[in-house]
Amino acid sequence: MKNIVILISGSGSNMAAIVRAAQAQGWAQHHQAHIRAVISNRADAQGLALAQENGIATAVVDHTAFASAPQPREAFDAALMAQIDTYQPDLVVLAGFMRILTPGFVAHYAGRLINIHPSLLPAFPGLNTHARAIEMGCRFAGATVHRVTTELDHGEILAQAVVPVLPGDTADNLAARVLTQEHVMYPKAIAKLLAK
Ligand code: GAR
Repeated sequence: MKNIVILISGSGSNMAAIVRAAQAQGWAQHHQAHIRAVISNRADAQGLALAQENGIATAVVDHTAFASAPQPREAFDAALMAQIDTYQPDLVVLAGFMRILTPGFVAHYAGRLINIHPSLLPAFPGLNTHARAIEMGCRFAGATVHRVTTELDHGEILAQAVVPVLPGDTADNLAARVLTQEHVMYPKAIAKLLAK
């Protein structure tokens, strides 16, 4: 039995693509893998409703609730870990989860924590990747699935998808073109890990 927990912060379209792939490809049957929970740091993440509609447990660990703790990031990550660990995860999937994680969190899930980032890493770690790619005159953009290490948007690359940057592209339409490929790539990369 392989337990998967997905972390989101917003629309959750990558999470939705993973849920659809798990259903369509029979991950439960072929990989003994189950998506046990979708956890968000924001109560208003639209992806939570979609997870619930698919019979997946959801939880919210609100990072703002830890703002006045002596070490807010550590306190939030400890609460998040406690929530995640109730599902005994073999794989923790960051899918548009927009929080920087502490070294303690990363170490706790070493070897079972992956992320998708909307650039062709190692180019453009961090935010505003599409605007930066356009500004630099890149002819190609894309997204990367990678293992998570303590260095932001680093770690072993597991998969990449490439799209062209077209004349007149805005950050928004480039983001949409990349996102379409993320939805294909992320489920495939996870299925490959599960098959190991
Ligand atoms: C995706 O484009 C993902 O690559 C990006 O946020 C979007 C989430 O969309 N992730 C990051 O920027 C992580 N730093 P989604 O919520 O619809 O899956």
